[in-house]
Amino acid sequence: MRISACGAYIPSEVLTNFDLEKIVDTSDKWITERTGIKERRIEKDKSTSFMAFEAVKNLLKNFKNPKEILENTLGIIVATSTPDYLFPSTACIVQGELIKEYKLDNPPQVCFDVLAACSGFIYSLYNAYNLLKNSEKKYFIVIGSERYSKIVNWEDRSTCILFGDGAGAVLLEKTEKDHFLAFDIGSDGRQKHLLYVPCVGQDSEKNYFLKMKGNEVFKIAVRTLEKSILNVLKKANVSPEEISYVIPHQANIRILKLVSERTKIPLEKFFINIEKFGNTSAASIPLALKEAWDKNLIKKDDLVVFTAFGGGFTWGSTLIRF
Ligand code: UT7
Repeated sequence: MRISACGAYIPSEVLTNFDLEKIVDTSDKWITERTGIKERRIEKDKSTSFMAFEAVKNLLKNFKNPKEILENTLGIIVATSTPDYLFPSTACIVQGELIKEYKLDNPPQVCFDVLAACSGFIYSLYNAYNLLKNSEKKYFIVIGSERYSKIVNWEDRSTCILFGDGAGAVLLEKTEKDHFLAFDIGSDGRQKHLLYVPCVGQDSEKNYFLKMKGNEVFKIAVRTLEKSILNVLKKANVSPEEISYVIPHQANIRILKLVSERTKIPLEKFFINIEKFGNTSAASIPLALKEAWDKNLIKKDDLVVFTAFGGGFTWGSTLIRF
C-alpha cells in the first residue's frame, strides 16, 4: 500500500491577521507570536463537498485515464467536521459528482464520512488502508475537507483567529510492497468539554459554534503528539534521526516546536505551512502533503510521519516509507 497521488483545493479568499484586527480585539503581533498564523483561506460560497470534489479532480489530473482509476477504486472517505449535511455523507455527494463528471459505469462503492475532528485524516487513512487490504480493487480515495469559517464564532477572538477552510485528497494504491510501516491511533472521550461543537437541536446550548479551552487543549496536544510519534517509531523500530519529514496537523507553531524538542526530531524536518492556512482541521495534513509533494521535498525511500491531535480527544500517527 502506498500514497500514489495527491490533490488540493485552496479557496481564493485570503483573510489576514490585519483583516481580523478589524473584526475582533486582536493584533497581528499576538496571533503571529502565539500561533504562527499570518493568514487563512475562507470559502464564502462553496460547500465542503464542493471543495472535496475539486481536490479529487485536482488529484486525478495526475492520470491520463481518470475514469479507469475511479472504476478501480473501492471507496471514498471524507474526513470532515463541517459536512454539508449530517446525511447524505459528504463522500456520497462527492461520489455522485464523480459519476456525472467522469461518466462512471462502475463507481467507488464504500463511501462515508469520518468525524474525528483534526485527526480525521489519519483515522480515514487507517480505515481506507484496512478496507483496501481485503478488497479486489486497487485504489481508495481519502479526502480531508473543512469549512470551519461556518462553525467558528466570529465574535470570539480566542478561536476565530485560528481556523481556515480548504481541502486535500490522496489516492491510496494497493502495491506489493507495503509502504505503511505503522499506525498509532487513539481516543479519550473523558475531556469532551475542552473542545466541542454542539449539534443543532441541542437544547442546552445557546449557540452552535466551536468552543475550546485553548490553553488546556494545548498542553494535552503536546503530550499526546509526542507519545503518538514515538509510538509509531517504536512499532516500526525506526529512530528519530532516520525521519526525513514530519507532516503534522497544523494547529499552533508553538505546539510543533515543543513536539520537535520532545521527540528530538529537528523542527526543520516538520513541514509547516500554518502561516498561510491556519488550522484547517482534517484538511491540514493532505494540504501540507500536497505542498511538500509539489515542491519535490519527499524523495523515494524517505521516512515520513503524519501526526494529528483533535477534538474527542482523538489522535493518530502513521509512518510511511515513500
Ligand atoms: O486543532 C485541534 C487542537 N487545537 C489546538 O491544539 C489548539 C491549542 N491551543 C492553542 O493553540 C492556544 O491555547 C491558543 C492559540 C488558542 C491560545 O494561546 P494561549 O497562549 O494558550 O493563550 P491563552 O488562552 O492562555 O490567553 C492568553 C491571553 C488572555 O488574556 P489574559 O487573560 O492573559 O489577559 C486572552 O484573553 O491572551 C488573550 N487572547 C488574545 N489576545 C489577543 C486570547 N485570544 C486572543 C487574541 N488576541 N486573538
